[in-house]
Amino acid sequence: MMDKVALISGGSRGIGAEVAGLLADAGWRLSLGLRRPEEADARWRDHHVAPFDAFEANEAAWAEAALAHYGRIDAVICCAGIIEVQDVISVSDDALDAMLEVNVKSPRRLVRASWDALGMSGTGRVVMLASLSGKRVASAASGAYSMTKFSAVALTHGIRQAGWDKGVRATAICPSYVNTDMAEAITDFPAGEMTQPGDVARMVKLALDLPNTASVAEMAVTCQREASY
Ligand SMILES: NC(=O)c1ccc[n+]([C@@H]2O[C@H](COP(=O)([O-])OP(=O)(O)OC[C@H]3O[C@@H](n4cnc5c(N)ncnc54)[C@H](OP(=O)(O)O)[C@@H]3O)[C@@H](O)[C@H]2O)c1
Repeated sequence: MMDKVALISGGSRGIGAEVAGLLADAGWRLSLGLRRPEEADARWRDHHVAPFDAFEANEAAWAEAALAHYGRIDAVICCAGIIEVQDVISVSDDALDAMLEVNVKSPRRLVRASWDALGMSGTGRVVMLASLSGKRVASAASGAYSMTKFSAVALTHGIRQAGWDKGVRATAICPSYVNTDMAEAITDFPAGEMTQPGDVARMVKLALDLPNTASVAEMAVTCQREASY
């Protein structure tokens, strides 16, 4: 019987909700960090739900509550994220700070708060929903977001380095357009031709399932022609 526990941010919708559904079906026990836990979907009734808002920096309280509830943490999956379509010259400090907070600093705090438990499991996993914008700067308008996503990829490599001897493996998932609210808000690209969130969830599960001896540091995926990716 599967007894592994995953913390998932961003599980209210989009990619995070698909990841949560796939892992729950596979027998994982989940702790979902939500801004409005009282609105959590009924399908999470048998799982753990905690208040989490990246701007409140309450990652440690969430991780402690999950540990108290389950007694272990085997995976941390960071799906919460925000985007501002701004070039690096026009973007305000406030907008850049907000993206850094949600996309980079909060995931680091969540992993740090879960670190000892991840190490205890011997096969701890961290999966970061970064972006293909963490691998290339596709346009001026994606420049500011790219700054934060390159940083999220670097964070993932740093986690992989720091956790290697404890059996922690870290993977950055780097998609281009995924059919969620986020993509709908920023592009006219047809939703049906985007990468689907359920397919990204399958990539996350692969990163969790592979053994310590098959660590995949980055998974780049796209729905459109790219010069290189
Ligand atoms: N969609 C794409 O095309 C695409 C492509 C590449 C990478 N990504 C990345 O993949 C991740 C998931 O994106 P998505 O498409 O699923 O986005 P989404 O549909 O917009 O969902 C965003 C999620 O992040 C949560 N969130 C936002 N701000 C938060 C905060 N301050 N504290 C806690 N949670 C917060 C949201 O919670 P609420 O429901 O409470 O707002 C929601 O669950 C993000 O990191 C995104 O940058 C997305």
